[in-house]
Amino acid sequence: MGTLYDWVKIIHILSIITWMAGLFYLPRLFVYHTQVAPGSEASDKFALMEHRLLKYIMNPSIVAAWVFGLWLTVLIPDFWTQGWLHVKLLCVLLMSGFHGMCAAWRKKFAAGANRKSETYYRVANEVPTILLIVIVVMVIIKPF
Ligand code: HEM
Repeated sequence: MGTLYDWVKIIHILSIITWMAGLFYLPRLFVYHTQVAPGSEASDKFALMEHRLLKYIMNPSIVAAWVFGLWLTVLIPDFWTQGWLHVKLLCVLLMSGFHGMCAAWRKKFAAGANRKSETYYRVANEVPTILLIVIVVMVIIKPF
């Protein structure tokens, strides 16, 4: 019923899906959050949604993506000598940095102290998309 490697990869891919879902949705919530008055009922609702998305979905998912991704490299250590994993991990580090920025922006909104515009978050929303495309091409094609 599948090798250990298969099951570690299954959990790796599932955790990536939930992490990406949060990375696509949270900046979108920020876009709508800029459209309501700080301290308003709507703003409090957005703050609650952003807090729960980050705490209960995105944070556990980023930890699982790293743990099971690195576990795959322990099972096949040769991967560390391959360029595709180096490019992939650079993109994953940038993706993790973006996750951290989302956490900082969430805190600003919760404190009613966001100063960034709706357009800023619309552009920011594209970052995970671009990184995801590069990551998936690297891991499936393994060009180098
Ligand atoms: C967090 C650090 C990560 C590490 C160390 C890592 C490492 C790996 C490794 C070693 C594999 C196995 C490759 C193979 O069996 O051919 C793999 C598979 C995969 N990874 Fe990651 N990964 C990480 C994060 C991510 C992220 C963030 C994404 C997407 C956003 C991603 C997407 C995938 C996909 C789609 C596969 C399946 C590839 C296949 O079945 O051929 N990984 N990962």
